[in-house]
Amino acid sequence: MPADQPARRTVVVIPTYNERLTLPTTLARLRSAVPAADVLVVDDGSPDGTGTFADAAAVDDAAVHVLHRTGKQGLGSAYVAGFRWALEQGYDVVCEMDADGSHRPEEMPRLLAALGDGVDLVIGSRWVPGGAVQNWPRSRQALSRGGNTYTRLMLDLGVADATAGFRAFRADALRAIDLGAVASQGYCFQVDMTARVRADGGTVREVPITFVEREAGESKMSRAIVVEALWRVTVWGVQKRGRQLRALVRRR
Ligand code: GDD
Ligand code: MN
Repeated sequence: MPADQPARRTVVVIPTYNERLTLPTTLARLRSAVPAADVLVVDDGSPDGTGTFADAAAVDDAAVHVLHRTGKQGLGSAYVAGFRWALEQGYDVVCEMDADGSHRPEEMPRLLAALGDGVDLVIGSRWVPGGAVQNWPRSRQALSRGGNTYTRLMLDLGVADATAGFRAFRADALRAIDLGAVASQGYCFQVDMTARVRADGGTVREVPITFVEREAGESKMSRAIVVEALWRVTVWGVQKRGRQLRALVRRR
């Protein structure tokens, strides 16, 4: 960014459920990698005390904020709540990042640098040249690759990693989206948001990242999350084909 432009106010939204073992390190790394960015932890009443830790961190560090929700309500609705808060606070840039260390905070500056003029969304991508995954079980790699291939066939979003959760949004691009209409609860939220930015004519850019499997705690991935994603991507794909067909018929 040119020196004569005011710095963009940036917030990184971190959804947490039972990340007491991982959040402390991730938060410390993020604060030192991107000191100018604020942080919002969105905790769903984690029984393991993640929310209590986050509250203590917020007392020590004015850049850290916490949103508490009652019970595990899903990644999608946690981000929607976090985005609403961020837009109310007037941030210019709103980022997404996992708490468990899979997204290396040291790579966040590259995402922010890629969010230049005319770019609405930057995705830290595992599946572009230069991107990588470390220690991820083969089954998860296959699921991610398969999910992305299916998403590309159904929705053609023009991105290699539509389910990635390491992102930077221009706040105005989020403002243009009706967040109340976002029904995705699980990880298909990421596909949902990518599709919405594209539908608004937004520009999406991918930068390669290395995704590192967590060393502590547990993934919240579940069969229900996979089923929801498959179901929703299929419905969106059929709706898209329907729109294309109707446009074709009108043109004849
Ligand atoms: N508040 C809240 N509520 N947070 C949640 C919930 C929830 O219901 N479910 C998961 N999270 C948080 C986790 O605590 C973690 O910080 C982050 O969301 C990602 O969850 P993981 O359970 O670590 O996900 P993963 O490693 O299996 O998932 C992979 O797929 C996701 C969807 O594509 C990664 O690639 C993620 O980056 C990606 O978002
Ligand atoms: Mn994870």
